[in-house]
Amino acid sequence: MAEGVHIFSPATVANVGPGFDILGFAINRPGDEILVEKTEGDDHIIVDRSGVGLPLDPERNVATVAIDSMLGHLGSRQKFQLTFLKKIAPGSGIGSSAASSAGAVYGSNVLLGNPYTREELVPFAMKGEETASGSAHADNVAPALLGGFVLVRSYDPLDIISIPGPEHIYCSVVYPEISIATEDSRKILKTTVSLEKAITQCGNVAGLVTGLITGNFRLISDSMHDVIAEPIRSFLIPEYDEVKKAALEAGALGCSISGSGPSIFALSKDEDTAHRAGTEMGKVFATAEIGSSVFISPVNKQGIRLLTKES
Ligand code: HSE
Repeated sequence: MAEGVHIFSPATVANVGPGFDILGFAINRPGDEILVEKTEGDDHIIVDRSGVGLPLDPERNVATVAIDSMLGHLGSRQKFQLTFLKKIAPGSGIGSSAASSAGAVYGSNVLLGNPYTREELVPFAMKGEETASGSAHADNVAPALLGGFVLVRSYDPLDIISIPGPEHIYCSVVYPEISIATEDSRKILKTTVSLEKAITQCGNVAGLVTGLITGNFRLISDSMHDVIAEPIRSFLIPEYDEVKKAALEAGALGCSISGSGPSIFALSKDEDTAHRAGTEMGKVFATAEIGSSVFISPVNKQGIRLLTKES
């Protein structure tokens, strides 16, 4: 059996339009690289090669919390060394903590001989999300593990459903270089919604999922509206309305906050439109003298993958 694996763990867009906490997808870039190795020591070891200030205490690092949840379920005392080369900035809204926790459980599961399927790893990775944000949501970790669009139909019991998407749908992500902690952006949300908003949001989620499955771009576009999180969270993101307007004017099907922000994503029906939308979105931040990074990617269908196997 291999003693070490080198893996790629993709960024993810959660809260797709109206799908707050229940709809996410994986993208090809950016993504983290993690080397997971077995160790004979008494505790896990975390090595931060990216210098982003990852917690090195195994009880506070999302990756080792997720691994311990899996080891506890398995009844194993195995310890691991995790070396992170993170390309997904913490606090960027594109699943940085999810890439770490999902990647860590995936890699350690491989080294233990794959006792769990990818689907079965989701609850363990969610423990990492709970450590990062106080909420065990699955809309980043599930697409990171499974690839593609993923619907969290239910949290109790957990019911994760992979949704087929149109073959050529593309995503533009613009990350303005500010950091928003998911925990903070969850606290500002209301804990109740009106019946009117619930009806609007349910209609749009159903429309979006139907549009994705049937490849109906008009329906996807008509359904990309969030009346619950976006109106509150958009105040945290400078130039939000202008960036969204720029994406839609460039031809994107829809545009919304990626996860808890500050990244903003747009979906487009082809690569050229996605490049145009990304460029125009980035220009808005440049004009406001806010540094930003733009990522253009098809939807990543594979999720976390092995780069090389080391033994
Ligand atoms: N659904 C989560 C949220 C995603 O919006 O808080 C962020 O990790």
